[in-house]
Amino acid sequence: MTPKTFKIKNFGCQMNVYDGERMAELLGERGMSPAADADEADLVVLNTCHIREKAADKAYSDVGRLRREDGSKPLIALAGCVAQAEGTEAKRRSPLIDIVVGPQAYHRLPEMVAEAARGARPVDTDMPAISKFEALPARRRATQSAFLTVQEGCDKFCTYCVVPYTRGAEASRPWHDILAEARSLVDAGAREIVLLGQNVNAWADEKRGLADLIRALAKIDGLERIRYTTSHPADMTDDLIAAHGEVEKLMPYLHLPVQSGSNPILKAMNRSHTAESYLATIEKMRAARPDVAISGDFIVGFPGETEEDFLATLQIVDAVRYASAYSFKYSARPGTPAAAMEDQIPRDIMDDRLQRLQAKINEQQLAFNRSKVGCDTQVLIERNGKLAGQMIGKSPWLQSVHVESDALAGDIIDVTLVAAGPNSMSGAERQRVAA
Ligand code: SAH
Ligand code: SF4
Ligand code: F3S
Repeated sequence: MTPKTFKIKNFGCQMNVYDGERMAELLGERGMSPAADADEADLVVLNTCHIREKAADKAYSDVGRLRREDGSKPLIALAGCVAQAEGTEAKRRSPLIDIVVGPQAYHRLPEMVAEAARGARPVDTDMPAISKFEALPARRRATQSAFLTVQEGCDKFCTYCVVPYTRGAEASRPWHDILAEARSLVDAGAREIVLLGQNVNAWADEKRGLADLIRALAKIDGLERIRYTTSHPADMTDDLIAAHGEVEKLMPYLHLPVQSGSNPILKAMNRSHTAESYLATIEKMRAARPDVAISGDFIVGFPGETEEDFLATLQIVDAVRYASAYSFKYSARPGTPAAAMEDQIPRDIMDDRLQRLQAKINEQQLAFNRSKVGCDTQVLIERNGKLAGQMIGKSPWLQSVHVESDALAGDIIDVTLVAAGPNSMSGAERQRVAA
């Protein structure tokens, strides 16, 4: 039977969210329509993530749960990074899976669905860098804050990480394609664009770098805010830092993962920065844009991490004063160099370190939020809040702001921040000047 409705379930990073939108557009072009729920869909796409432990097991159990009470099941496509890592093995491990499609091959999804509807079980985990973008339809719909993937893949090979294997080598989309996609997103209602890449600041097209791209995007009328994520410290150029001081539409926020504050651990991770070089980058960034909110990622319990190494991580957190940060327990990934290292850290030590690190990060996050109380700023409205008349949006520093307002999603309103919580702010709308 030819499927008529589909449901895409995204896991993992923002790049998967972007890929999910593109898959939805592809299927929509072929006359399929989105279903509210996996239960009602003829086709379910599980767009998976492989970054941490048990990712594959979880994906298979999610597949199992798609079987329905009456014994029927939808067509099931395994997509994303688990699909890439597992390949044909996925069909062996789960007879329920009809399609296996990697992150570089999903432009072929509609034909694969047609093949599966005829009873085949197609697999495509080829990695022809970037060519999929040429096969994708033009953007016709956009949320007020829209993702735009400009770069994919990673050549950094941090010793703990699967991304270079699941997403392939670093590749940048061409300048003109990105600008064209940005314009169509803005025409479709986007006020903010978030440029995405596993190493977004490694984006390059001939002599042009991410800072040039941001300056060009800033000239698009109707586009009010630009963000980018995730950056690698090694690719944080002076030009990109300078752009933060010049380009008004570039938001004062930088997600710059350091992973650890200990130089021996950073070396064992194959991160090309040191604690000192990372701090120097943050200092330059603050010189260019004093109010910039800094965010980051941390891994605790990397093989060989001593209490002293961990204390160095707490120290770098103190030195940076993060506005927000994500922290994870090290997870040994099959096939990565770190998985074979000696001195894997016991779980209880990891738990303890994670707790201590998160306590410090939470304190800093609250301190950052409190430092903004009294600020007059602007909020990009995203959605309705829980209370009547309440809307939720984002400040320039990516804080969630609750505000009583009759503004609509996509409006940018003037707000005074009046109270701070650990995870959000309250704002009061300032008088709107009649046009
Ligand atoms: N390219 C980005 C990170 C992408 S993965 C960068 O280099 O900063 C997102 C985060 O997941 C990483 O920053 C890291 O903190 C975490 N991570 C990646 N592999 C991990 C692993 N094996 N165990 C625990 N956390 C991991
Ligand atoms: Fe993974 Fe390192 Fe590449 Fe980030 S830079 S995606 S952590 S290998
Ligand atoms: Fe996960 Fe793949 Fe993103 S492993 S974090 S979905 S690049």
